[in-house]
Amino acid sequence: MHLTSLLRAATAGLLAATALTAAAHTAEAADTLGSAAAGKGRYFGAAVSASHLGESAYAATLDREFTSATPENEMKWDATEPARDSFTFTSADQVVDHARGQGMSVRGHTLVWHSQLPSWVGSLAAADLRTAMNNHITQVMTHYKGEIHSWDVVNEAFQDGGSGARRSSPFQDKLGDGFIEEAFRTARAADPAAKLCYNDYNTDGANAKSNAVYAMVKDFKARGVPIDCVGFQSHFNSASPVPSDYQANLQRFADLGVDVQITELDIEGSGTAQATAYGNVVGACLAVSRCTGITVWGVTDKYSWRSGGTPLLFDANYAAKPAYDAVLTALGGSGGGGGGGGGTAACTATYATSAQWNDGYNGQVTITAGTTAISTWTTTVTLTSPQKVTATWNSTPTWDTTGNVMTVRPSWNGSLAAGASTTFGFTVAKNGSAAVPAVGACTAS
Ligand code: G3I
Repeated sequence: MHLTSLLRAATAGLLAATALTAAAHTAEAADTLGSAAAGKGRYFGAAVSASHLGESAYAATLDREFTSATPENEMKWDATEPARDSFTFTSADQVVDHARGQGMSVRGHTLVWHSQLPSWVGSLAAADLRTAMNNHITQVMTHYKGEIHSWDVVNEAFQDGGSGARRSSPFQDKLGDGFIEEAFRTARAADPAAKLCYNDYNTDGANAKSNAVYAMVKDFKARGVPIDCVGFQSHFNSASPVPSDYQANLQRFADLGVDVQITELDIEGSGTAQATAYGNVVGACLAVSRCTGITVWGVTDKYSWRSGGTPLLFDANYAAKPAYDAVLTALGGSGGGGGGGGGTAACTATYATSAQWNDGYNGQVTITAGTTAISTWTTTVTLTSPQKVTATWNSTPTWDTTGNVMTVRPSWNGSLAAGASTTFGFTVAKNGSAAVPAVGACTAS
């Protein structure tokens, strides 16, 4: 019944067959996150703390793997202007100097934010606050002029929940909605070469908050307010998983004429589930041409802001986790978690949502052979109940007794040259659940 060939499925099958030809390549695979991402025209960054740069394993991992750095706390208002007109850049300079010395680009984080805001700012009256905000932006951006690839000009200015309203803050409460526009105009004047971003969390799928940000960006573009990019923080855990419309949401913002960046990625969990989610996020970025880079919110679980959730790519001993392998594989690099080397048959499976509508979506899994040709492969796709698969293509699925776990084997597309890829797809009725399917490990022979 799941093999029913719908028109949509047949069309997708033809597209997938075309994609197979395009994807069959034998280019030498990169072996770090940064070099693999560069091969896809993207940066791969990490949040960096100046206080850890003296730890050799920290610095070595950062320098080896990453091509971009975001100071985790050092550029925030409380760090850079703790007292009015008294600017301190010592810690932020350490991060910038280290990163630039390694040839990394730097994301500036962040100029106007309600948090980590010294109390003197909140006690100013409106006119004075406006002056102080514009001065802060100008002074900090001028200090780093020419050094910053992208600035988070305004951070987290919208409320969570269903209101789509602006969040209460000294800026919002005293200056009104116009403070965001004013901040961007001031930022453009201070460093015209820097990309100017709006950055927020819980905006990773379509919802009231992201819709409100979308409306603001659309309005800015229509009125010529300078904005170049939108940052999607992408802090995920089991209560807040990667939304099924993640890629579609990135794409709708990109379609407004801005770049999109994944700015603070971390995903709590471990093992295959965490690896799959990471691979999905990377796949979504790669599928959106204006998704220009990914930053993970820290180098190692040891120093993560939510260390207990082990949300990063390197464990507390700086060992690469399965999530690292999944990211590297999704970026087209070598050494993926499923193997991919050593002359034995191996493959990897990565997931992307290829289409999305109100009550359903199409999932697509890319199977890529490792360094050896393979003659067949198998993987699993696990849905969250009550989702149901209504169609499949380019594969031969079987089902477990719950109907939630689909074991997938090839139909016509089992044989892959070393490094070559094929895709299979499926249509899912959401039945009220927006969860993303989990794709298991790929095995090959
Ligand atoms: O450095 C002091 C230390 O001297 C002191 O002993 C200690 C006692 O609490 O605090 C240390 O400062 C902490 C700082 O991180 C450095 O570790 C602050 O208390 C703590 O509040 C601060 O947390 C940061 C948090 O932003 C504050 O809002 C996290 O490191 C940082 O990862 C986090 O980053 C934010 C992004 O900027 C915006 N998006 C969400 C993201 C996660 O919350």
